[in-house]
Amino acid sequence: MRSNPLVMQAIAAFFEDKTGQHLSESRMWRIENALHDVMRQHGLRDLSDLLDALEEGRNDGIAAATIHCITNHESSFFRDLKVFEMVEKQMLPHLHATLPDKLLRIWCAGCSTGQEVYSLALILKRHEAMWRGWRVSIIGTDISPFSITKAQEGLYQQMDVQRGLPIADLLCWFDAADDHWRIKPELRALTNFKIDNVLEPRAVSGMFDLILCRNVLMYFSPELRSKALSSLARYARPDTLLLLGAGETTIGASTLFAPSGEFRGAYQQGPQVIERLAG
Ligand SMILES: C[S@@+](CC[C@H](N)C(=O)[O-])C[C@H]1O[C@@H](n2cnc3c(N)ncnc32)[C@H](O)[C@@H]1O
Repeated sequence: MRSNPLVMQAIAAFFEDKTGQHLSESRMWRIENALHDVMRQHGLRDLSDLLDALEEGRNDGIAAATIHCITNHESSFFRDLKVFEMVEKQMLPHLHATLPDKLLRIWCAGCSTGQEVYSLALILKRHEAMWRGWRVSIIGTDISPFSITKAQEGLYQQMDVQRGLPIADLLCWFDAADDHWRIKPELRALTNFKIDNVLEPRAVSGMFDLILCRNVLMYFSPELRSKALSSLARYARPDTLLLLGAGETTIGASTLFAPSGEFRGAYQQGPQVIERLAG
């Protein structure tokens, strides 16, 4: 019989192995509380039973629910408004002016329950005339099947739409559904959501013009942060713009991306990658 601290450490190691996220001592104390529902739903007596189920790979649902419960899924519409203002006023006009084939592809890696993706879709809709005749798509990926299902549903509670969403956008692009708000189909049509791990992306293909991976890498160890940035770089051209969360940087984590000279807080592929691509 393993002691509780050892079981917690083993569950934390399982979680880091699957997601890249490192659980600090201070976050580890939340494990038992966070996993209470998972244990109850699957008829497991305690954390030790849960660990046995994870180690035996008995049930994918248990693993997915465990990962979901421990993960931070915090998100909101237009989170860090200044970033979305820069996307709206500088980055998208720049991409519109420079992309050759009237094709705009955006990827939100670690999109949680969809607010980031729909915020971008709303910005594109605000400038609908500018994008007329373009093929525009935004794909959101997340490791959590529960978050992706919620993102696909596009159904938000009153308190979700009260956080950061301008009332004009709410009235224009959402339908009231009982005490919830549902994204309108024409906005959802710009989006696509898939379950995927940023450490080993399988659900995306081709190159993207803008990649967001915000508030995802901050819990990763330096090695796995570097691995995740290498994954993102495989889907980026030299002119692709990368946005990370406010407290995140590629500096010290990867030489594949360097701060963009043009857009504050954004990253583009570093000089050695560009040289390698040219050579
Ligand atoms: C704090 S939320 C950030 C959501 C959104 N990007 C934002 O900034 O509002 C982090 C999300 O990253 C997801 N995530 C964590 N590790 C991941 C991984 N290895 N691959 C894909 N998504 C991951 C989590 O499931 C969670 O939904």
